[in-house]
Amino acid sequence: MCQPCTYVIFGATGNLSRVKLMPALYHLEVAGKLPEGSRILALGRRDWDREHSIHEIRGWVKDKVRGELDEEIFQRFSQRLDYFRGDLTTREMYPRLQTYLSDNARFADNIAFYMAISPAEFGMVVENLHTAGLLSEDHGWKRVVIEKPFGYDLESAQALQRRIGRYLREDQVYRIDHYLGKGTVQNVLVFRFANTLLEPLWNRNYIDHIQITHSETIGVGSRAHFYDSAGAMRDMIQSHLLQLLTLIAMEPPVSLEAESLRDEKVKVLKSIRPIPPSAVHAHAFRAQYSEGMIEGERVAGYLQEANVPPESVTETYAAIKVNIDNWRWRGVPFYLRTGKRMAQGQSLVSICFHHPPQQLFRNTQVEQMKQNWVLLGIQPCECLRVEMTVKEPGLEMRTRQTSLDASLRTSGDTLTDAYEELLLDVIDGDRSLFLRYDEVEYAWRVVDPVLRVWSMERDYIQTYPAGTWGPEESHRLFDKEAHHWRHSLNPE
Ligand code: BG6
Repeated sequence: MCQPCTYVIFGATGNLSRVKLMPALYHLEVAGKLPEGSRILALGRRDWDREHSIHEIRGWVKDKVRGELDEEIFQRFSQRLDYFRGDLTTREMYPRLQTYLSDNARFADNIAFYMAISPAEFGMVVENLHTAGLLSEDHGWKRVVIEKPFGYDLESAQALQRRIGRYLREDQVYRIDHYLGKGTVQNVLVFRFANTLLEPLWNRNYIDHIQITHSETIGVGSRAHFYDSAGAMRDMIQSHLLQLLTLIAMEPPVSLEAESLRDEKVKVLKSIRPIPPSAVHAHAFRAQYSEGMIEGERVAGYLQEANVPPESVTETYAAIKVNIDNWRWRGVPFYLRTGKRMAQGQSLVSICFHHPPQQLFRNTQVEQMKQNWVLLGIQPCECLRVEMTVKEPGLEMRTRQTSLDASLRTSGDTLTDAYEELLLDVIDGDRSLFLRYDEVEYAWRVVDPVLRVWSMERDYIQTYPAGTWGPEESHRLFDKEAHHWRHSLNPE
């Protein structure tokens, strides 16, 4: 096991800490993965003491725990917890924090600062940590975990990088994209490079197009303050979906070592054809949910949600077509889409293969041959399916679609959340599932032209009723008439 570490969580009373970080750290305790002597220092503005914070954290963990909360384990976990009251926007807090950490033998010298805070505050906090000497590595390593979005667009990402780059080496920065901690996402590499079967087919000679979908039934909830200035393109496509695309499209890396992996991912992003302003409408589509029905219940439209400005044209649905100009993918469109308040919540990569070159069955009852699909289910179902056409039993020549199922989960497997793996990787110093700065920059380069055009078109946005798959008009992105959005893992 690795050395003990202190996790200092900025924004510890916020949403991310409640629903993800604290439950994940507790599950690591259950799994016995937290190194002996590791501590968690929750930092927040609220007037809490240690005791009260433990009481609150217990409630958050209880809400999210897998199975039942184990009191004995929580007791052990709570001994690691501490609370530090402070306002991160005031300079005086940082020397206080420095004294607290160094005077208290309870805290390990290795420190990971987790920024579960507003993106606008990342730079300022890093600067203040530096000034207070908290980033000095004279005793123990210092790492900073930065949540997405890293910047608001290309220019602000570059500015943020310049600012934190003054105080941190690249190997101290852990830019987190929790999608990379998901089981199937990591499995993409194994499917592709540990099976001889798939790799020879994984190119323009066999693949017609690729779709990556992340849909949610939930709405914006209590996050309008953040979401309304971000929108679906920044919130999901610039980060999670483009990351997924890089894993699907990359060349085999030299090794699984962090830099080799990231080199290949960056190459993909660099090969994406820039979208000129005049082509934005042909390549991108946005919409916003209006009132509708989710699981039999009437739900409000985006504009009626708390803290959403009445005139907002922020997109809650975004889709984009990208072309990768390299030998492997030239001519294979990648369609990425995401939306809130959609018909179903799921994450799915759908890879559509070409029609067979010969229509051998033309003069039989088989009318139109279906294409093969490879489907990678990311959530809720973690699976790999290969859809094939087979003959139906009987005297006639009729076919049906069936799928070869290589499901990832079998009953009894332990489910883990992406954050568990990633929080542990930070302690281990393994950066392979974190983003290097150039990945972030090139991802911004892909979406920036779209965001620029959208930011100028502020008068109107299409709407879709909550509980649907988004406006029909998004079909205009497809290169071919016969293309359609693949909504489900079930054979079509
Ligand atoms: C987050 C986005 O990064 O990912 C949210 O900010 C989104 O808007 C979430 O709901 C989706 O991830 P998951 O793992 O909850 O499906």
